Amino acid sequence: MQQEVVDFLIIGSGVAGLRAAIELAPHGEVLVITKDRPSESSTEYAQGGIAAVMSDEDEVGIHFEDTLKAGDGLCREDAVRTLVQEGPERIAELISWGAEFDKEGTKLSLSLEAAHSRRRILHAHGDSTGKELERVLLKKVRSFPSIRKYPFAMTIDLIIKDSLCHGAYVLKDGKVAALFAKATILATGGAGQLYSRTTNPQVATGDGMAIAFRGGAVLEDMEFVQFHPTSLYSPTAPQFLLSEAMRGEGALLRNITKKQFMGTYHALAELAPRDIVSRAIISEMVKTNSNHVYLDLRHLEKHFVKNRFPRIHSTCLRYDIDITEDLIPVSPAAHYFMGGVKTDVEGKTSLRGLYAAGEVSCTGVHGANRLASNSLLEGLVYGARTGKAACQATGKPDTSVRYDFKPSAIHDADEIRRTVRKIMWEKAGIIRCAKSLREAADQLHTWGSIICTDYATRHELELKNMLTIAEIIVHAAITRKGSVGAHYRSDYKERGERWQEHLCWDRKSLEMRNLSLLPQGGETCGR
Ligand code: SIN
Repeated sequence: MQQEVVDFLIIGSGVAGLRAAIELAPHGEVLVITKDRPSESSTEYAQGGIAAVMSDEDEVGIHFEDTLKAGDGLCREDAVRTLVQEGPERIAELISWGAEFDKEGTKLSLSLEAAHSRRRILHAHGDSTGKELERVLLKKVRSFPSIRKYPFAMTIDLIIKDSLCHGAYVLKDGKVAALFAKATILATGGAGQLYSRTTNPQVATGDGMAIAFRGGAVLEDMEFVQFHPTSLYSPTAPQFLLSEAMRGEGALLRNITKKQFMGTYHALAELAPRDIVSRAIISEMVKTNSNHVYLDLRHLEKHFVKNRFPRIHSTCLRYDIDITEDLIPVSPAAHYFMGGVKTDVEGKTSLRGLYAAGEVSCTGVHGANRLASNSLLEGLVYGARTGKAACQATGKPDTSVRYDFKPSAIHDADEIRRTVRKIMWEKAGIIRCAKSLREAADQLHTWGSIICTDYATRHELELKNMLTIAEIIVHAAITRKGSVGAHYRSDYKERGERWQEHLCWDRKSLEMRNLSLLPQGGETCGR
């Protein structure tokens, strides 16, 4: 087996991974591995923007309060304070590295999104903010000879010995390689591909969460999955995010009878928190027996719409929808995972030598529901902090560890993947109940053997990871008998007892194969 020893191993090349790499570069050799092209990440597709207090009309304390409110009582306050306090400095640094955010005259142009009580969303090229961040960070990364990229390498598993992480086994060009490091950082993003409707790119299959779980790390808050209210719904077009910034600029939601409805669901109407807007849309879809509603920008000035949302405008035009003239068919889609690998505010996980940053991690910064445009900021702030913490790792990786790789093949992998996504969407999606979740658990359990086997292709390894995380999400959702933030149970509409507890999951307290054999409610999970 090919072996390589570096100082720092980073898995994932979105905003969090790249920002961590920049922090580590002066301290040793950094290897950034990705299963696809280095620019293929959720960051690249982020439209709306990045939230931070960058104007005299705003205050860090107000951003703090807005984030806590969106998080619905489950945010960790120290994590939120860190985010909002360090955010402006990280943005200024990014600007000094060449980031070009949109301006009005000499001032940054700041927009509004749901549940923000001030205009504080920076954006770039209208609706290509993530692409701009990725461009600047990749450019900065290239300026450090100590950072090397290692693309098209799919992580199979972490190298764990004596509860210490020594690196990762990866599959590259059909062969297994062992990459040893004194510190390994997971920055693999989320798992939107677990759902048949998602705004996430193909790469978002929950790999980091799954390998961390298999390695023995603790996962937390897995029941909290955020659904974005407005993703393009068209049988002839791919799923595509229609940024919340559109509603921030005045876009309206209408049901298929063209009637506005958000005002009857929440005082903030189109700018209510995301979970409320998503559920309102589902409710209108049910009432009108339709699979979508409409987003309407026809009343806004055409020139403004084209300039403010150039990427959305041109993408929709390709599918014969002119967003300045036509009603846009939309429906909710899985968007962001508030839960993930449990870390402290320095990105340290429960395993020594293993760190996590960005969407794969759970610092508690988002609580039960993330405030719009806080995720790119999280990647920057916690990417940098995690890099700083990983610099302190002193251990020497144990390269004597041996791996017995005996891969199998999954028959009907495509069919199973499609079915898993459908089950998750229909039974563990925006509105859940004990019956739907139990059915999901039982169906997922039939593929239990896939979770415990090795595979020699990226596609199969992804499916293994997806099934692992799907089972955990379903059991977390069964366990939380109450509705909080993005987790909504139609059979427990109130918060329920002990709602402020965070549910944690790790292998020691729960063997995956037995998950669906647990008594109703999964009471044996760790807390
Ligand atoms: C959007 O542009 O609506 C997405 C922004 C986010 O999820 O934070």
